[in-house]
Amino acid sequence: MSFIIIISSLTLFLLLTSLSSSSALPQNGGKFKVLRRNIGISAMHVALLPNDKLIIFDRTDFGLSNISLPAGRCRDDLNDQAVKHDCSAHSIEFNPKTHSVRPLTVLTDTWCSSGAVSADGVLIQTGGFNDGDHSVRYFSPCDTCDWEEIKNGLILKRWYASNALLPDGRIIVVGGRARFDYEFIPKASVYDLPLLRQTRDSSENNLYPFLHLLPDGNLFVFANTKSILLDFKTNKVVREFPEMPGNAARNYPSSGSSVLLPLLLNNSEDINSIKAEIMICGGAEPSSNSKAMKGEFLSADDTCGRLVVTEKSPEWEMERMPMSRVMGDMVLLPTGDILIINGAGKGTAGWCMGREPVLHPVIYSTENKMFKVMDPTTIPRLYHSTAHLLTDGRVMVGGSNPNIKYEFSGVLFPTELSLEAYSPPYLFRGGRPRIVMVEPGLELRHGQRITLGFKVERGGGGEKEVKVTMVVPGFTTHSFTMNQRVLVLEMVVVNKISGESYAVDAFVPAAAAVAPPGYYLLHVVHGGVPSRGKWVKIK
Ligand SMILES: *[C@@H]1O[C@H](CO)[C@@H](O)[C@H](O)[C@H]1NC(C)=O
Ligand SMILES: *[C@@H]1O[C@H](CO)[C@@H](O)[C@H](O)[C@H]1NC(C)=O
Repeated sequence: MSFIIIISSLTLFLLLTSLSSSSALPQNGGKFKVLRRNIGISAMHVALLPNDKLIIFDRTDFGLSNISLPAGRCRDDLNDQAVKHDCSAHSIEFNPKTHSVRPLTVLTDTWCSSGAVSADGVLIQTGGFNDGDHSVRYFSPCDTCDWEEIKNGLILKRWYASNALLPDGRIIVVGGRARFDYEFIPKASVYDLPLLRQTRDSSENNLYPFLHLLPDGNLFVFANTKSILLDFKTNKVVREFPEMPGNAARNYPSSGSSVLLPLLLNNSEDINSIKAEIMICGGAEPSSNSKAMKGEFLSADDTCGRLVVTEKSPEWEMERMPMSRVMGDMVLLPTGDILIINGAGKGTAGWCMGREPVLHPVIYSTENKMFKVMDPTTIPRLYHSTAHLLTDGRVMVGGSNPNIKYEFSGVLFPTELSLEAYSPPYLFRGGRPRIVMVEPGLELRHGQRITLGFKVERGGGGEKEVKVTMVVPGFTTHSFTMNQRVLVLEMVVVNKISGESYAVDAFVPAAAAVAPPGYYLLHVVHGGVPSRGKWVKIK
């Protein structure tokens, strides 16, 4: 008997070692850490506010969450299909420092909604489902604040739309299910956007369109495989770009992800000299969603495409990721590199339609154009999961609710209430710089020259390449972070003051289309290691 056990455990050991060596992915570090096993809700929509708190919400129409509203607060909705009297919270504030959770009150349904942080640091969040589909909701960053909701803040219902903050402080809300138009906050008029009608296929692979504000003041809009440049001041399409090659749709439910690569402002006075490049990664075959509905889970797409949208006649440059991924989140790191994290290797977004969770993040170096596979998590993050940059250079990872209700057992992938932080390898290298002074202050004007004093912690190994970056962490849901932006500032000079103390002079971007008024995390990057971000405000 014991002999058999020894044999079988030996076999198992051999099997495991051979598996891990044959399927061995190169490990390049980084580390996941659970911040909290249970925040009470599933992190479906997330934004970091300038008080360093995360505002997180899921939806009001899928049952009782695991956190109660303060006593006396409940939500009564006779039309709700899941629960008509609900005293549980569907939004929380999370403090990444203390890991504490504060329940917040959303009364109308935020499911598959969108958002943007305004120039004043207020989270403005729009649309959703049912009673929330015309809502605009406001959350100010303060320790006692709660949601304020305006039920008819939108002219039309917006479900699966995307938002962008504009240089004049307005917010544009683009698309939504069966919507081929856009509107603004504050409420004004609705404008037609034929791109959304043209790119709608039988699986609606053009929801949550990718939006990026370009330095020339126009909005890049990408849906399914096609993209345009929209002048939102005159409401005209000013350019059409070539179709993205390959056999993949890139937007929900074939969710890929998209970023505007870091803007290098080495001559920030001359807007025309700024190169703007979009990068879109992952997605799925256009028929993948309808096949998944019939139980056939196709491999996700493994390509990324880059397009220099400031060129006269740009072409997509295609690259292969180390693995296929749908529902991945692309997070711009303060160094200017890109973290690709979360998602699945097969299927699409939507209820129970993802398979083979991708547990390994990948970091793409924007300088060497190389992908590196990172160490894995143990928690699958599928449909309705998020990843969002934190002030200290870590990345919050949360959510996953591929089920129609909160389901904690008896399903293939249970609803996840946990939050993790992913620390990229740069946090383990030592020699971290620390900003000790910003002159003339934390309120900045366009074009202003600023001086940053910083110290490099012991073991920093002397002088290394210095960069100054400004980052907008944005608003994340459904594998797309709206308004995410990294600006690499034009620098003048780096002076060594003494020992490990330095001062660097840099210029705040000169134009509102490059850096819309609002809050930014200012970082010094020394030898590839970013400081903690310091919140600054461009007025
Ligand atoms: C949260 O879940 C735990 C474990 O199932 C349960 O004991 C607790 O009562 C729940 N709390 C709320 C407020 O639903
Ligand atoms: C300035 O940036 C452009 C791209 O935006 C790049 O081609 C050029 O080499 C840069 N120049 C310097 C001096 O860094």
